[in-house]
Amino acid sequence: MKKIQLFILALALFILPACLSPEDLTVDETEPLTDLSPDEYVNTAFKDAFPIHYESYLRNMGNGRPPVSKFIPDYEPYLPILFAGFPFEQEYNTTRGHPYAVEDVLSIARIGDRSIGSCMTCKSSTVTPLLKEFGDDYWSANFRGDIVPRMEELAAVGASEELGEFGHVSIGCSDCHDPVTMELRITRPSLTHALARQGIDVTEATRNEMRTYVCAQCHVEYYFEPELEKVRFPWDYGTKPEEMLHYFETTAIEEGFDYDYIHAVSGAPILKAQHPEYEMWSYGSHGRAEVSCADCHMPFERRDDRRKISSHFWASPLENIETSCRTCHSDKTERYLIDRVGDIQERHLEAVHEAQDLTVEAHYFVNRMITAGAPDDKIEQAQQYVREGQWYTDIIAAENSDGFHNPQGSMDTLRMASDASNNAIKLAIEELSNLNVDLGELRTEIENVKEAVLNEEDPFEKHTHATNNFFPAQN
Ligand code: HEC
Ligand code: HEC
Ligand code: HEC
Ligand code: HEC
Repeated sequence: MKKIQLFILALALFILPACLSPEDLTVDETEPLTDLSPDEYVNTAFKDAFPIHYESYLRNMGNGRPPVSKFIPDYEPYLPILFAGFPFEQEYNTTRGHPYAVEDVLSIARIGDRSIGSCMTCKSSTVTPLLKEFGDDYWSANFRGDIVPRMEELAAVGASEELGEFGHVSIGCSDCHDPVTMELRITRPSLTHALARQGIDVTEATRNEMRTYVCAQCHVEYYFEPELEKVRFPWDYGTKPEEMLHYFETTAIEEGFDYDYIHAVSGAPILKAQHPEYEMWSYGSHGRAEVSCADCHMPFERRDDRRKISSHFWASPLENIETSCRTCHSDKTERYLIDRVGDIQERHLEAVHEAQDLTVEAHYFVNRMITAGAPDDKIEQAQQYVREGQWYTDIIAAENSDGFHNPQGSMDTLRMASDASNNAIKLAIEELSNLNVDLGELRTEIENVKEAVLNEEDPFEKHTHATNNFFPAQN
């Protein structure tokens, strides 16, 4: 390309988003001021004041499809091995709409008798009243014993057939809006604290930043800090996976948090990663260009009466390329944009599966080091590599855009995953060779385990095949 063309392209890319910033498209001329209580938390209470927003919210009910397991062969069949020894081995599903969050957390097999209040934090609009009532005891309160019964009492008002059993208190209006002024607000203290630790005062955030921060209350990596079991985001050194790992290897350990679980196959101390949509977005091309979550996921939607609102149907932007993407990329056809996303996701999923395969293999190689009697320091070194490999694999696999939010960053991380898992395997091969272990037999046994997990039809039973007589449990 000639220099001048490059210059014009750069100029166009630079100016485009600025010309079409959401500010120019402001919808509601009237300042919404409601007569709701400042403590209102029930979604149906907002229906009369904002009927078209409520109607838009109702679309999140979709066709009511039940949750889909991620363990099926077409998705990520070896997750029950990667999570062996942790409740995620039992059930892990793809996402559903916001009104289903409470229903889904109540029925997921991962929740046990020892689960805590923190597990409700990203699911329900009752979290604000619960935090007010329980104070810091909320976080570590017993989920089934203390939190659910109180949530159900709070849910006794405002139920409606159209939102299902708990949709009226699932993620909703009061989680993102002040019920009186309807200004965007942050209700989850974990985000406020994490930003403050980075030197950012969320009360000073611009409107455009708030259009992302409201989502960053939940669509993030987190862990339960050991003292109060509060939800904490590991962002002190930045939001890249390697910066979060650095946090876990230093600050978190100094504060007493070492790992989420000991892996049943390798005995490695594992960090369970969660859905880092905000983190991956933050250093991708859209995040760097300050394109907010709401720009793509809450595009303007024209209603029959010719009024426009921000869509409150949080779904795939591909359903609505015209308003989600072509507001900025008007020079590209809908077909082109869909194909670009498809290409990115296809290559991404291939790389995820490769990293998962390699990490699975690494776990079994370390298991064999243990059973063959390799030196302890070598086993520990290999377990550390596996911890890293699994972290980098899991944090990317758990991100819900299949790479779109940050294609380059995702690939970089998956490369780190492969490096770390390969290091574990290399070290194991050295040690196992010294001990004259039959590596051919080992590889055959690994294939057998993978096949047994793949062929098990009951998703809840798959994890039972992760360990066996050849690969005894290490946790
Ligand atoms: C996950 C966060 C979130 C939830 C939940 C949510 N909103 Fe919004 N809402 C937003 C964002 C973001 C905007 C855009 C605000 C802006 O650009 O200033 C918005 C805008 C609005 C506006 C201003 C007009 C417009 O369309 O831009 C109204 C009114 C509104 N929402 C009502 C509701 C109601 C009623 C509910 C519950 C049924 C609800 N919202 C739930 C995030 C949310
Ligand atoms: C209070 C926590 C919370 C907030 C705030 C929140 N989300 Fe979610 N979101 C969730 C949870 C939990 C799920 C999965 C629900 C389930 O599967 O039952 C989800 C699911 C989704 C999905 C998948 C929907 C589907 O049909 O599979 C999208 C897209 C989404 N959120 C986007 C957003 C955006 C954009 C924002 C900000 C405007 C936002 N969310 C704010 C917690 C939250
Ligand atoms: C430039 C547009 C864009 C921005 C900005 C963006 N997303 Fe997305 N998001 C997408 C696309 C495209 C997908 C993939 C949809 C698909 O696979 O059908 C997606 C997927 C998702 C999903 C999974 C949806 C599902 O059905 O499972 C979630 C959740 C999500 N985004 C949340 C967020 C959050 C939170 C932010 C802000 C931190 C954000 N997104 C910023 C475009 C965007
Ligand atoms: C508010 C404006 C805005 C919206 C909305 C938007 N984009 Fe972008 N997009 C940008 C900007 C700015 C860049 C970065 C250009 C650069 O850095 O060279 C970009 C870059 C891209 C790229 C190339 C970089 C990459 O990450 O691969 C693709 C592909 C893309 N956008 C697709 C989409 C799709 C698909 C949607 C809708 C789901 C969308 N965009 C929505 C502004 C936007």
